[in-house]
Amino acid sequence: MGISSVAAIREAIGVIESKLGTIQAPLGMILGSGLGGLADQIENPRSMSYNEIPHLPSSTVAGHAGRLVSGKWQGRDVIALSGRVHRYEGHTLARVVLPVQLLAGLGVHTVLVTNAAGAVNPSFAAGDLMVLSDHINMQGDSPLIGSNDTRLGPRFPDMTVAYAAELRELTLRLAKERGLTVHEGVYAAVLGPSYETPAEVRMLGILGADAVGMSTVPEVIAARHMGLRVLGLSCLTNMAAGLSGGTLHHDEVKEVAGAATDGMIGLIAAVVRGMPDFELRHEFRSHFGTQLVV
Ligand code: HPA
Repeated sequence: MGISSVAAIREAIGVIESKLGTIQAPLGMILGSGLGGLADQIENPRSMSYNEIPHLPSSTVAGHAGRLVSGKWQGRDVIALSGRVHRYEGHTLARVVLPVQLLAGLGVHTVLVTNAAGAVNPSFAAGDLMVLSDHINMQGDSPLIGSNDTRLGPRFPDMTVAYAAELRELTLRLAKERGLTVHEGVYAAVLGPSYETPAEVRMLGILGADAVGMSTVPEVIAARHMGLRVLGLSCLTNMAAGLSGGTLHHDEVKEVAGAATDGMIGLIAAVVRGMPDFELRHEFRSHFGTQLVV
């Protein structure tokens, strides 16, 4: 058995706060491919590379630099995690979710998770955005495998409402006001790293998926385990395999993600400004052995 996630996060927070001072915020953001620009807009940033933080896995994928940035954005205290790691990089899911557990340990109450995904729903188009209404875990694995730490959450966490209805509604309304094409739909998480075959994409559509990607679901499971409120947003960078006639390339995914960045950051900014006020999660700061500073 390795070190428990509570012990790992406690150690990580100790190192972060000895370098940056007390870091705490009610809102956390896990930024996927191409959204590093959002972290650059954070005012009075205090930041550290994942490499400097014990236990946090660093990413091996281009466009996924691992960095924690805390400061003010849109008038709110936020902690952004720019860049994430994936199961396909060889990390266990328990390690993949340490960053979201770190956010909880820093007092985060609500977490926004973004990703790039392929559109499975044929009525969607590359460049559109999707608010996650639900997900299907096709990774054949869970970050909660192993003994359960009840300080974090229950053995059998409920997933009936994984994505907070009020945040989904807010996001859809603000997107419409901004003239953005935003859908609501089900995200299927697969292992990757190969893209899907056309037969797999047809299967995912039959199963009820609207989009497919290789991330997010592990973090959302860990976030819901801890009772955090979640908003998930996908940038649909391409039609999934077999739906567009062409073949798939990571460069094209990055290019479309880059082109959609401004619209996505603008929408996230409006959502963050429009969110109702909420509080730090005091109990996590104490579970993770850190003092709450108010
Ligand atoms: N499949 C899986 N993951 C993805 C895709 C896709 O088509 N596009 C971006 N991430």
